[in-house]
This record gives sequence, C-alpha cells and structure tokens, in this order.
Amino acid sequence: MKILITGGAGFIGSAVVRHILQNTDDLVLNVDKLTYAGNLESLASVADNQRYQFSKTDICDREALDQLFSQFQPDAVMHLAAESHVDRSISGPADFIETNIIGTYQLLEAARKYWNELDDQAQQAFRFHHISTDEVYGDLEGTDDLFTETTSYAPSSPYSASKASSDHLVRAWHRTYGLPVVLTNCSNNYGPYHFPEKLIPLIILNALQGKSLPVYGNGQQIRDWLYVEDHARALYKVVTEATVGETYNIGGHNEQKNIDVVKSICSLLEELAPNKPQGLAHYEDLINYVVDRPGHDLRYAIDANKIKQDLGWVPEESFETGLRKTVQWYLNNQQWVSHIQSGEYQNWLNQQYRLNPTD
Ligand code: NAD
Ligand code: DAU
Repeated sequence: MKILITGGAGFIGSAVVRHILQNTDDLVLNVDKLTYAGNLESLASVADNQRYQFSKTDICDREALDQLFSQFQPDAVMHLAAESHVDRSISGPADFIETNIIGTYQLLEAARKYWNELDDQAQQAFRFHHISTDEVYGDLEGTDDLFTETTSYAPSSPYSASKASSDHLVRAWHRTYGLPVVLTNCSNNYGPYHFPEKLIPLIILNALQGKSLPVYGNGQQIRDWLYVEDHARALYKVVTEATVGETYNIGGHNEQKNIDVVKSICSLLEELAPNKPQGLAHYEDLINYVVDRPGHDLRYAIDANKIKQDLGWVPEESFETGLRKTVQWYLNNQQWVSHIQSGEYQNWLNQQYRLNPTD
C-alpha cells in the first residue's frame, strides 16, 4: 500500500510511521508542517528507508495537497495532523480552528477530488482514516460509564470542540459524497518521543531537573492511558481491515488518577535515577498543586470492546510495563530531550506555569 500520513512528525504520527516502515512493505509519504510539535529527529530510525518520503506541507494549503495526492497516488490517508494540547487551545484557540477544522476540510476536499478520479476498483479500496480523540465525548464525572462509539458528543475545550467538528466533517463527507472513511477515537497516549508539554513527559523531565511537578487542582482527575505503540498497531489494523463508515474507540483499560500517575513516575525515578538533584530527598517532595485547568474534564474512560471483537486488537502493554519503558526511554535519550527543550518550549513553560525564566 501507499499511505499518505499527515502529522507523521508528531508523537503518535511518528510511532505510526515507524510501525509501518518496520513491520510492513508499505510506502509512506509523511505530510507535516513541522510546528513546534513536529520533530524529524523522532523519525531518525527510518529516515533513510527507501519506502519513506517527507513533505513539509501545511494541510491548510489546498494547492500543495492536490499536488501531493496526484504525485504520490495514495491507497489510503491516515490523518493525524492537528494542534493537540488542551492548555494551548485555552490560551490561543485560533491555530486549533485553523488546522483541526479548516485543515481537515482542505484535506477532505483534496482526497475527494483525487478519489473521484480513481477507477472503480481503486475507489472501493481507498480509505480516509481520521484519527481523533475520546475528548469529543466530554466528561464522565461521577459515573461508572465508559465512552462507547455511540456516546453523544459533548466537547469541553477549544481543542476537543475543534476535533469534534473535524469528526463531523469526515462523517458528512462519507454520507454526502461517499468518500470511504473510517474513524478512531483514542484515549490518552504515552510513551517515547512524547513532547514534554504533556503530563507524563513533563513530570519525568521536571523531576530529573529538580523542578516542581505541577498538578492541576486536586489531582483527582482520571485519564485512561494507552502506550503509543499499541495505538499505532490499532491504527494500522483499522486502516487496513475496518469496514467503510465504521468508528472504533481505542483505549488501554488503564484508568489512573493524575496524582497517582505523578507518584508512580516519582517512584520509578527513585529506582532508575537514584542520583537526585542536589538537596532533594525524594522526587515526591517536588509535587506542587497549582491552579486548575479551566473547564477541566474530570474523567475519561474507553470501552474498547468493539475493536477487540471486530478486529482482534488488544493492548500489549500494561500501564506498569509501559510507564517503566517510558521513564527509561527519557533517561536514555537525553539528546532528543535537549534538542526539544528549545526557546519556544521554554517560552511555553514560562507562560503556562508563570516561571521565572532563570528557573
Ligand atoms: P502532536 O501535537 O504530537 O503532533 C501533531 C503533528 O501535526 C506535528 O508533527 C505537527 O507538526 C503536525 N501539524 C500541526 N499542524 C499542522 C498543519 N497545519 N499541517 C501539517 N501538519 C501539522 O500530536 P499527537 O499527540 O501525536 O496527536 C496526533 C493526533 O492524534 C491528533 O489528531 C490528536 O488529536 C490525536 N490524538 C492524540 C492523543 C494523545 O494522547 N496524544 C490521543 C487521542 C487522539
Ligand atoms: O484523551 C486524549 C487526549 O489526551 C488527546 O486528545 C490530547 O491530544 C492529549 O493532549 C491528551 O489530553 P489531556 O489534556 O488529557 O493530556 P495532558 O497530558 O495535557 O493532561 C493529562 C492530565 O494531567 C489532565 O487531567 C491535566 C493534567 N495535568 C496536565 C499538565 C500538563 C496536570 O495536572 N499538570 C500538568 O502540568
């Protein structure tokens, strides 16, 4: 297969590109604008692969997309490009509207034009796979419920509202124009190459540097964590095996309170990085409860039974094994980390956590 992947230089996209090139004979065209979150160093292990191409392109640029479709002639699109950080969507929603909504619209239109010109057989085989989030379903506060594929949409943040909007566009392009789409909505991912604005890598790196560990509100919020390589395997199964028009929820059955995640990281670091910054007795001493995220969703949890039953996918990694691998990966990959901790990243930390630039 020839697969056009958007956002392949991001956290999940790079795991998908690596997974496909290392485990299949498929060809990949990675289309990525390289925003602050895009990092070609995450693809160093596959950059020289003959089956891999990269194009630095904004998905809002329709003309460039048309050219890429016509040159590469993909059998499938896996659409991961997005602005993905909830806190950034609160402090500046514009990029989220632009990329997540307008960008998805432009990509759908480019895909539709290309698909319309294919012969019947190629039209039937073509897939547009939209990769989305469980955050479109909103908040499960105070219930034992799980998100299923039929849960109503109730997004809370500018980020989740923009992703919900993109999901609706994709379904409309299927129903109205017949574009052969599949959708997935996944829970919180974690693992190697995760940009350190998100909870797990932020806590690991702050702890190693003896900086405070910011826990929003009371830390009782719950997320359902999935190891990123399990997600990449699930996505490949969906794009290659799912029936057109289907949606799959993907999750790890790993509900954890934020404060417990932070404490688990501290305890792993006690074991794996016992030489602490000077003057620090325990990593947990760095925990700092800070002002809560506005509109903070209290609980997410995924029912992943449909993908298990239809496609036979189950996660391979438990939270314990996955978190240990992740902490070890950050300890072993200080060069990747130091390149990412650029001026732009420092600006974000200073603005978000009101840090003194010299901290
Ligand atoms: P990320 O922020 O790490 O990466 C996003 C990538 O998209 C970056 O490489 C960036 O350069 C690229 N990009 C951004 N705007 C672009 C544009 N206009 N044109 C082309 N490229 C652009 O995100 P991620 O965490 O890897 O998430 C990937 C996708 O998966 C997103 O659609 C996100 O909504 C979804 N998702 C993420 C999670 C999670 O826990 N991270 C969970 C479920 C779903
Ligand atoms: O559920 C899937 C979503 O998971 C994806 O769609 C998003 O792209 C991804 O960023 C993630 O969103 P979250 O908001 O859940 O992830 P984040 O890592 O930002 O935060 C996880 C939890 O930890 C959340 O309840 C907020 C809290 N938190 C986060 C940060 C950055 C803190 O307590 N302190 C922090 O400093």
